[in-house]
Amino acid sequence: MSKILAIDDKKDNLIVLEAYLKQYLPSQQLIIAQSSKEGIEKAVKERPDVILLDVSMPGMDGYQVCRELKKDEQTANIPIIMLTAIYTDTESMVKGLETGADAFIYKPFQPSELMSQIKVMLRIKKSDDLLRREKEVLEEMVAERTSALKDAQRAAVETIARILSIKDPQSSGNQYQIAKLSEAIGEKLRLSKIRLEGLWHASLINDIGKISIPADILNKPGKLTEIEYNFIKQHSQSAYEMLKDLPYPWPIAQIILQHHENIDGSGYPEGLKGEEILLEARILRVSDTVVAMLSHRPYRSRFNLEEVIEELKEKSNIYYDAGVTEVCIELLGDDDFCKSNFLTTEDTPNP
Ligand SMILES: [Fe+2]
Repeated sequence: MSKILAIDDKKDNLIVLEAYLKQYLPSQQLIIAQSSKEGIEKAVKERPDVILLDVSMPGMDGYQVCRELKKDEQTANIPIIMLTAIYTDTESMVKGLETGADAFIYKPFQPSELMSQIKVMLRIKKSDDLLRREKEVLEEMVAERTSALKDAQRAAVETIARILSIKDPQSSGNQYQIAKLSEAIGEKLRLSKIRLEGLWHASLINDIGKISIPADILNKPGKLTEIEYNFIKQHSQSAYEMLKDLPYPWPIAQIILQHHENIDGSGYPEGLKGEEILLEARILRVSDTVVAMLSHRPYRSRFNLEEVIEELKEKSNIYYDAGVTEVCIELLGDDDFCKSNFLTTEDTPNP
């Protein structure tokens, strides 16, 4: 059963409408409202399939009611037939249609004229509802597929991170800390959700290029020779070669290629300066350094938070982006953030 809402301030008109509907459309339910305000309230509450709206009413007239109903997304899709006893010139009719009315009927009208208009509007409403439902189903399907795709991407990146931790046990577990710190810095710098996702992925696998470095160099307990260090430095370029053709929606390969570049141009592999370096790479440069300094290595103990902050301050605007450094220092000053991300060295002696 469809619902028809009639809004008219004159009771006699409503009685006539009710009689017509009982006779010609007995299976439809009629809801009546005797004022503009009551009409709007009932439209929201009852969600009728068609509204019959009188134009001249005290207070808000039919045009204003129509405008209100079309503005509200709960009632915007309900067809409205405007009923008027006044002769309406073309300009007024255009005004009515522009407020969102779907049809006009002049009083006195033939019952058959009104009934056929109501039937047309009911048909329009039915197909409109069907289209809307189909659209919702499609949107849900797209959202589900997108979410499944994101899960698959995330799982693939996490697998790469696990493989990397086997090859480079010294950095095992650090990848998640780097990713979380990068993400927190990115959030503070108001990066968009999509850029934050890219930053998280790039941070998690930032050292994937180390797979191409001989394990005895990578895990060497002592200080590296210059030749060995040059080998290590190749990991950004190797990562780029591995990732550049993957169809990621983010510039992951570029971010990782640039994650050892310094603001003053003294970094590697390309010696880029300042904003030539992607913001995500400047963030990763800082979060990677912080996590590395807070981690134990066979050839040194961990640094404590104060020393890490000192390093960031000293090299701000030299190695590290000043804005990124400032935000990172702010985060490192937040005990809860540090503890929840294991960025703490409470039980570690000074080196
Ligand atoms: Fe690296």
